[in-house]
Amino acid sequence: MRAPLRTILSLAIALPAATVAMMTTASAAEEPAPTTVLTNDFEDGTTQGWTGRAAERVTHTTTVAHGGTGSLAVTGRTASWQGPSLDVRAEFVQGTSYTISVWVRLAEGSDNARLSVERRTGGVASYDQVVGDTAVDSGRWVNLTGRYTLATDVESLRLYVETSSTTGDLFIDDVAASYVPVLPIQTDIPSLKDVVDEFPVGAAITGAEILTEHGQLLGKHFASVTPGNALKWDATEPAEGAFSYAQADPLVNFAKAHGMAVRGHTLVWHNQTPAWVFTGADGEPMTATAGDKALLLGRLENHIREVAAHYGTTIGVWDVVNEVVDENQTDGLRRSTWYTVAGLDYIRTAFRVAREAAPHAKLFINDYNTNVPAKRDKLYALVAQLKAEGVPIDGVGHQMHVNVSWPTVAETRAMLDKFLPLDVEQQITEMDVSIYTGEGESFPAPPADRLLQQAYMYRDMVALFRQYEGEITSVTLWGLADDNTWLDTFPVTRKDAPLLFDTRLQAKPAYWGVVDPSRIGATTGSPTPTGGAPATTACSVTYRITGSWQGGFQADVRVTNTGTTAWTSWSLGWQFGAGQQIAQLWNGSAAQSGTAVTVANAAWNGSVAPGASASFGFLGSWTGTNPAPASFSLSGTACAAA
Ligand code: XIL
Repeated sequence: MRAPLRTILSLAIALPAATVAMMTTASAAEEPAPTTVLTNDFEDGTTQGWTGRAAERVTHTTTVAHGGTGSLAVTGRTASWQGPSLDVRAEFVQGTSYTISVWVRLAEGSDNARLSVERRTGGVASYDQVVGDTAVDSGRWVNLTGRYTLATDVESLRLYVETSSTTGDLFIDDVAASYVPVLPIQTDIPSLKDVVDEFPVGAAITGAEILTEHGQLLGKHFASVTPGNALKWDATEPAEGAFSYAQADPLVNFAKAHGMAVRGHTLVWHNQTPAWVFTGADGEPMTATAGDKALLLGRLENHIREVAAHYGTTIGVWDVVNEVVDENQTDGLRRSTWYTVAGLDYIRTAFRVAREAAPHAKLFINDYNTNVPAKRDKLYALVAQLKAEGVPIDGVGHQMHVNVSWPTVAETRAMLDKFLPLDVEQQITEMDVSIYTGEGESFPAPPADRLLQQAYMYRDMVALFRQYEGEITSVTLWGLADDNTWLDTFPVTRKDAPLLFDTRLQAKPAYWGVVDPSRIGATTGSPTPTGGAPATTACSVTYRITGSWQGGFQADVRVTNTGTTAWTSWSLGWQFGAGQQIAQLWNGSAAQSGTAVTVANAAWNGSVAPGASASFGFLGSWTGTNPAPASFSLSGTACAAA
């Protein structure tokens, strides 16, 4: 019935030399300067269009200023959500990713501040976070910088700053929003879905991923999509009986139009479920009474029937229940409100109803850390019990939120092997590979060695999955490209880069790890790509600031091989003289420690023939002055500034 396990495959595919040459040329193209769509310096004595969100007062002030002498003061706040707000509907175009920067300061005390967007469609407000809680106080200006992509039609769109708990006066200054046009997607590289064809390879998506270049990248490489949030309960039934598919339908329609499969995520979860679901007829939180249990299971049944019926056969797989296991409980069951009110019956009901409402669909139980033996074994016991009872479970979903150094292939293989006797399908449902190995780490840009480690992790894990053809029926990544990943704010706020394509949609070493491992060099943790750095250096560097705005700038750097020996890899170092910080870099990978910056080549621009050049670009922040670095070194040896 089941196909025998495949023996290990060689993933390497031969790329014609011409293809490689084209990739190098395309990636090294000159970067366009960022386009500024908004600046507010409050130097003209006005509020420059900013207003309050309610009755709080917004005025121009010279009490404090970040740059110049003026800033914006907000007084008379009576709730923490009140703060300065600006209409940006005319400035922000759908599908474009904006970098937004605001300086914030409190009049007294300390709190957290955040930057958000309020958008209204059909009279209904939705809120998107641009920068999460960031410590602010009265002693200094704090910068909030984040990225935002509008993905829906809106009647109104407003940027605003709020605090988390206090309501004291606050100031903002030097607001800027700009975007760097995304690079065209690389059309001359192999499509992931053609290289890995043992099972559909998918990506989790939000509204922004089906537009313009993102949509092209999705269509080129992926055979399946999972709406990342749009099918969760808070999106599909925000109020009892009020079903909405406004978020999910565009994503599902995109998939249909492109012949892609859809994974339905998720019918039942303890997160992103509105409070009304767990509120009893008396208006109180539900408890373990027969009445509350009947009401809760009734709501569950109604929800599953409605949502499943809306999509019919379009959704071939449902994550019926998500994250129900807690390995620290003797019975292995998470103490969610679902469990405390309804016990195991909520899981039984969910599968029974899903089978009735979507008889064609494969029904999955999905969870994280399923490679951890304790968790894995509790999940196994639960599925074994439910199947023995006749509960219609077709498959086990392994989320696979992992990182560059965890877990091992052996542990992951043991995870897959564990479920073989249960006669269930297995899917990898939410894979991403964080560049961080602990919560204390934070890099301004992904270091080269982490990106290489990540490439090895992707290479080894996907190679393992491919050996389980017939057992594993889908592998989905939790995102499309590094410009939109949930790991930017989980478990802490910092820029992560866990996917196969970078923030400008270009293939990373991780992509090559899956598609053509011969391009990422040695088999284990060596941080330098193959070939090694040139022993003696004959080079020159051009460093050009191509755009500059309040607090931010973009630079292009070109390094030229002026010697007679070809380079197979390179690493360029310099010191920033005025506290500049790299925020984001493309066509290379950067590490910054204090003022010292090192940029290593990307997978595709390490080879530089005599007389040839490689280029990279970056976005940075600055205050005061922004001088170009005085000197450079290439792989440790001085390199002349041209
Ligand atoms: C995440 C989404 O990606 C975020 O946008 C959202 O804010 C929180 O949820 N496990 C899951 C997914 O099953 O639903 C989660 O998705 C990531 C962890």
